[in-house]
Amino acid sequence: MEIDVFTLFPKWFEWFEAQRHVRNAIEAGTRLRYVDFRAHTPLSGGQVDDTPFGGGAGMVLRVDVMDAALRAHYGMDATEARNHRRVIALTPGGRELDERYVSELAQEPAITLLCGRYEGFDERIVEHYAGETLSIGRYVLAGGELAAMVVCDAVLRKLPGALGHESSAAEESFSETLGGAPEYPHYTRPAEYRGWSVPEVLLSGHHERIREWRAEQSARRRDGD
Ligand code: ADE
Repeated sequence: MEIDVFTLFPKWFEWFEAQRHVRNAIEAGTRLRYVDFRAHTPLSGGQVDDTPFGGGAGMVLRVDVMDAALRAHYGMDATEARNHRRVIALTPGGRELDERYVSELAQEPAITLLCGRYEGFDERIVEHYAGETLSIGRYVLAGGELAAMVVCDAVLRKLPGALGHESSAAEESFSETLGGAPEYPHYTRPAEYRGWSVPEVLLSGHHERIREWRAEQSARRRDGD
């Protein structure tokens, strides 16, 4: 899989890439690339954003800057890129990220994440260059970078080889195996701590009973009791 992130702050992702599961995914063949708007801006002084027409606070990422970055990186008209890969603008009001959306993205051979800054994007970017908008939740971040990392993190751990155990992602919260419910509780040693003991069934070695208990716990969490 190939993920391209268009950003004003490619350096932020150095920390992200240093994480073990991200390194594993890269070693297993995932390609993560960063495109810096400032490296492609046609404006002087590295300008990439501007004040909004009609007034108001903050700055908006310019459409001509996005155009130049997409054209330079993909070697085609910027409106064409979305015909070749999923081009996603990260905005607080977009389609909310959930497990289904993550699984959908993990099936793609190539995606592009566009990070806005300050007040976001000139709307023509969303209309003409992106095929969709994605939100990691109904709150406003200072930019799309953290949202891009959330998307990458959630998608990469779905790819083979990113986690130590292939089964870990299959049976985690919201997975199909658990019928879309949150995961059951986990415990590890010590079996007793300050008088708090681990549920007896987990120590029983009785796999069928353990499976039943986990399914029941998972369903209870889903139903909110
Ligand atoms: N950019 C700013 N806030 C965001 C959010 N909540 N989700 C995605 N992108 C964003």
